[in-house]
Amino acid sequence: MKRSGPLAAKIVVLSYFLFKKMKRKVEYNRRKFISFLGKASIGTAVLPPFLLGCGNMAAPTNKTVKISPKVLERLGKLAIEALSPSNEDDLLLANGLDYHVIVRWGDEIGPKDHFGFNNDFTCFIPLNADDPTDGLLWVNHEYVDRKFVSGFDSNKYENPEAHRTREQVDKEMYNVGGSIVRIKQIAGKWEVVKDDPRNRRITAKTPMTLNWDHPIKGASTVIGTHSNCSGGITPWNTFLTCEENYDSFFGETEYLENGQPQHRPSSYGWEKFYPYPPEHYGWVVEVDPKDGSAQKHIAIGRYAHECCTLYELADKRIVAYSGDDHNDEHLYKFVSSKPGSLKYGTLYVANTDAGKWLPLDWENQPALKERFKNQTEVLIRTREAAKILGATALNRPEDIEIDPISGNVFVSLTNNYDKNDFHGSILKITETDSKFDALTFKTSTFMAGGAENGFSCPDNLAFDMAGNLWFTSDMSGSMMNKKEGPYRAFKNNSLFVVPRHGKEQGKVIRLISAPNDAELTGPWFSPDGKTLFLSVQHPGEQTIDIAHPTSTWPFDEDGIPKPAVVAITGDLIEKMNQLHLLKSS
Ligand code: FEO
Ligand code: CA
Ligand code: CA
Repeated sequence: MKRSGPLAAKIVVLSYFLFKKMKRKVEYNRRKFISFLGKASIGTAVLPPFLLGCGNMAAPTNKTVKISPKVLERLGKLAIEALSPSNEDDLLLANGLDYHVIVRWGDEIGPKDHFGFNNDFTCFIPLNADDPTDGLLWVNHEYVDRKFVSGFDSNKYENPEAHRTREQVDKEMYNVGGSIVRIKQIAGKWEVVKDDPRNRRITAKTPMTLNWDHPIKGASTVIGTHSNCSGGITPWNTFLTCEENYDSFFGETEYLENGQPQHRPSSYGWEKFYPYPPEHYGWVVEVDPKDGSAQKHIAIGRYAHECCTLYELADKRIVAYSGDDHNDEHLYKFVSSKPGSLKYGTLYVANTDAGKWLPLDWENQPALKERFKNQTEVLIRTREAAKILGATALNRPEDIEIDPISGNVFVSLTNNYDKNDFHGSILKITETDSKFDALTFKTSTFMAGGAENGFSCPDNLAFDMAGNLWFTSDMSGSMMNKKEGPYRAFKNNSLFVVPRHGKEQGKVIRLISAPNDAELTGPWFSPDGKTLFLSVQHPGEQTIDIAHPTSTWPFDEDGIPKPAVVAITGDLIEKMNQLHLLKSS
């Protein structure tokens, strides 16, 4: 979600020129990228099978991969033609790629339900492991643009909040959350199977339970999920959807110096019609595709969760990484103490300077006992607890992925305007002894955004079957394509790849350019590696008058821009994934 306006844009432009004067330039070259990605060093920590069968993850191995001379020759010749930065209002693709829209905002997905707005995270689970062309697609719906969704236009009124209605809020609440949609590939095109009984919407009104032994604000069943940004998948084939900027909808409880709570109102004002406690939001939510039942995992903490990336240890205990996408917030990991549990265990926060995971454990941390009543309160106020323990302030930690070949953990640090970090970077974490439940780690910058590397503001990450790193950018719509400022040269948001093999290895290559104002999100590979599912989120977001939108993608007859999930296919994806098809020895 965007969180900047014209004032922020001015501050950024000013800061940018100050920054330029400093002439601090980080030099990275493609050789470094490859050595930073790392050789096969995963050792005993081979990735679990659940990450292999569901796409979005390469086949990991600690064994030597034998590659036939023919394949090596083809890889060596694989030349990828990069796209130039573009501000064209279209989804532009590099040669060798095609796309088709699978489902867009407003499309019927069943007799009662429609696809929601601003799709972000996508994730696909095949119905049958032997058939990669038929399965359930989960899609997050992060937030709504009220002009399009409920017809509320704050620019029309002097006192806009006086014109809000329950009917508007109801429409907005329906259009966030997530969708489960069965999709099937027919003659090379993915189509929604509309009559599948598993198709359903999860919305801001769907009741769900708390996976915790104590009620929160008097409830163990709460109403709805929203702000669903990125997510993850579990070894038991359920979806994880993460509540990010939850304070936009029901506000937040803040604490004065004397410890008194006070309510900070939300920007959408939903709490005026539905006074649900802010403490019911800001969690990782698990959805079971079988019946749509959902639960919130309290033990993973409460903050602006971007994603939740799981690793299953050999003894079936779970490690869950998650970042708090806000300036100067933190990186977390939860390590369960029981197999398959997202409830019993310890939540840690990273001190990246010292390379330590710090336990947010009320029982054993006197400083937490002094401030909070119990562990439940620590988890509700995770950000405060993290700071008490000395967590490192990071520049908006967003998506997290585990490199299937090296076992390193990659974290997007999108940017931090307040610290003159306009272009962000990708952080690499190496857990001690390649153990994901280690309490110490090393860090380094894998690559920095900026003119040198041709991208800015990295957000979602995905490794493909061959260990190539794909990532999207998230420059704010209010700052892209401005005459002055740090983002002009990059033009529209895009998707990039860093090939791991062949002629182009280590280069940052722009493969897909987004329509105007949009952000590409949720990259996820089909299990056969032949399709990249991708969300096109908030095209036309800078529109002031909906009769004259800034984007008309996906070019429907009504001319209204619509967020949509697309399938990216083509020879290029298949070639890049071909190492996956080889047998390891
Ligand atoms: Fe919703 Fe951090 O992006
Ligand atoms: Ca994101
Ligand atoms: Ca983002």
